[in-house]
Amino acid sequence: MNNRLIDAGKLRHLLSLDGLGRARITALLDRAQAFVARPGESVTTSDALRGVTVANLFFEASTRTRASFEIAAKRLGANVLNLDINLSSAAKGETVLDTVHTLEAMNVDVFVIRHSETGVQEMIADKVAPHVAVVNAGEAHANHPTQGLLDALTIRQHKPEFENLRVAIVGDIRHSRVARSAVHALAALGVEDLRLVAPKALLPADEEMTGKHFTDMDEGIRDCDVVMMLRIQKERMREGSIPDTLEYHQKFGMDERRQEIIQPDAIVMHPGPMNRGVEISDAVADGPRSVILEQVNNGVAVRMAVLATLLENRSA
Ligand code: CP
Repeated sequence: MNNRLIDAGKLRHLLSLDGLGRARITALLDRAQAFVARPGESVTTSDALRGVTVANLFFEASTRTRASFEIAAKRLGANVLNLDINLSSAAKGETVLDTVHTLEAMNVDVFVIRHSETGVQEMIADKVAPHVAVVNAGEAHANHPTQGLLDALTIRQHKPEFENLRVAIVGDIRHSRVARSAVHALAALGVEDLRLVAPKALLPADEEMTGKHFTDMDEGIRDCDVVMMLRIQKERMREGSIPDTLEYHQKFGMDERRQEIIQPDAIVMHPGPMNRGVEISDAVADGPRSVILEQVNNGVAVRMAVLATLLENRSA
């Protein structure tokens, strides 16, 4: 997917991490790191986006992404519109593009869009005015670039050298935009040992993603430095293809026993929302190796970095 780079490779929109390249990803991570404030610490605020209006258009459910874009935009001084899609004219059949053009007419500068169909964000990016930016906040199974950035930032905070890391992504990879964006980011940053661990039916097609396939979880996660657990995405599955949750947990759940076969200082990640007792046990999710809430915290910093960068780069 094309992020519509302008002027010496500057980002115009953020649609995907695919092809973005190590230097641009590292620059976004460095910028995000400067915005990180752990709970209880004082947060960085600025006027960088004063006078800018950011609209959150979420055609699929979200807690983390939508809230963190709102918090990020407000910390940078922007006005934020959270359109309630269920109460919007989308419910009367208005197209996404007409909704966007309507809000553009009200001086919205940035559209943060989540949609269940592929290509919507790219189509909108093609049609908006030159001063308007589009950020992909989750696109079907295909892209979730700010999640990929926050995952890479979280890993870098614990494991600064990407080259020698062993990283396992475990679970419903076939339907996961989180996995695709994580692979785009980690491969660009130099991770060579990327493992995709899932039942055969939930692995991606061979040519679709970088990474070695495993259908045995113990084998796939053994000695890994990073284990990223994924949710079973029932909403993207046909009825009848949804795995039995107890059996799934036994074969592909991260539990206390499996914590013993990864590296002693390994981190366990999950993008949320979690299905506790399915892909991850309570003991692991709430245990010392879990960095799940750090991921959430880093999400605000990453979205501040993305918004600040896109707004700096936009045409007058
Ligand atoms: N990780 C993630 O995208 O979470 P939300 O669906 O809550 O935004």
